Amino acid sequence: MHQRRILVAVTGGIAAYKIPEVVRVFRRADQVVRCIMTSAATEFVTPLVLQTLTGEPVRTALLDPAEEGEIDHIDLADWAELLVVAPATANSLAKLAHGLADDLVSAVALATRAPVLVAPAMNVNMWNHPATRANLETLIERGVRIVGPGEGELACGWLGAGRMSEPAEIAAAAELLLASKSLADEVVLVTAGGTREPVDAVRFLGNRSSGKMGFAVAGEAARRGARVVLVAGPSAVETPPGVERVNVESALEMRDAVRSVWSEATVAIMAAAVADFRPAQALDRKIRKEDLAPDAGLTLELVRNPDILAEISKDRGSRIVVGFAAESHDVIDSAIRKLERKGCDLLVANDVSREASGFDSDTNAVIFVWPGGEIEELPTLPKTDVAAQLVDRVEKLREARR
Ligand code: CTP
Repeated sequence: MHQRRILVAVTGGIAAYKIPEVVRVFRRADQVVRCIMTSAATEFVTPLVLQTLTGEPVRTALLDPAEEGEIDHIDLADWAELLVVAPATANSLAKLAHGLADDLVSAVALATRAPVLVAPAMNVNMWNHPATRANLETLIERGVRIVGPGEGELACGWLGAGRMSEPAEIAAAAELLLASKSLADEVVLVTAGGTREPVDAVRFLGNRSSGKMGFAVAGEAARRGARVVLVAGPSAVETPPGVERVNVESALEMRDAVRSVWSEATVAIMAAAVADFRPAQALDRKIRKEDLAPDAGLTLELVRNPDILAEISKDRGSRIVVGFAAESHDVIDSAIRKLERKGCDLLVANDVSREASGFDSDTNAVIFVWPGGEIEELPTLPKTDVAAQLVDRVEKLREARR
């Protein structure tokens, strides 16, 4: 992300002590940060700390002639490309919802035209109070984005919702708001992870897919403003911000989930490692050894699963469809044949026998295979970078169609 101007508004809650870390995360990403504070906030963290970390003067008062002389509050509101209110107390949420402007933070929030991100932090009963809920609803309706709060032990001694989100989560939500919205009109369907094909009540056939590649693609499309539906097999990877996740287990469940969003989707990126076969019968009880003859082996009969990618490609209309190919040998030739067989617009092939592009790796070395046999070989890159390159290609395909 290129350098952007972020205005961090600190209000008076104990979580204000974490704001220096929020500022550092932004600064590490090379953002320009300024801070404004309510006077209550200065009880929890000093302006000098934030001034030192941002390298910019910190404003705390609305009607202070010296501060206004330096940069008046309207110029500050105009300067911001993003306003982050963190921590946002119950009182500050109420002020924002009702359009009050009786201190610097609320006045700037009212005057700015920048997107607003709010990170609430308060006692759990204040958070659950109908007044706070109503204020929050008003803000969400107006397009204000909320990050958190998390649940856990609160500084007031209560347990529950009300902890301010961690600095990294706040930064990720901010990045999402600031990213270019080049996919704003698209509904992107992504499949990810491996499927589990039930054998009996406790066992399944699975594969080694981690889901990392597909989750990275989903995150990248969401950052570019698409509505993203991620149909995911079991995966330990966290859902990227802004992504709607539908959890499935088997290939048949994955096909149902894909079909149910198909009418809305404009782009499909099929990164899942779908099992090609499933046990002909899944027993709803556990298979016990004592049910078998002593020393007898066990033969499972497998039947073919539907090829979800091939099915949707046939019914694609004007949609852009991207497939993946996991190969262990003859990568390019096999991928070219697979692209033709599946009928997609682009195939992303990778050699899963190599460590840098194998299952569960954080990096991938992919080859883009285009209809007609043209290939583009990328170097080994973090999966997030591969995802960005892939979404760039999707944007190009879309441009070509227009
Ligand atoms: N795919 C799918 N449904 C299946 C199998 C695969 O949608 N039943 C999709 C995958 O998500 C991927 C592409 O098809 O986008 C290729 O998957 P891959 O496992 O590489 O190929 P297969 O079609 O399974 O062929 P093979 O295993 O024989 O190489």
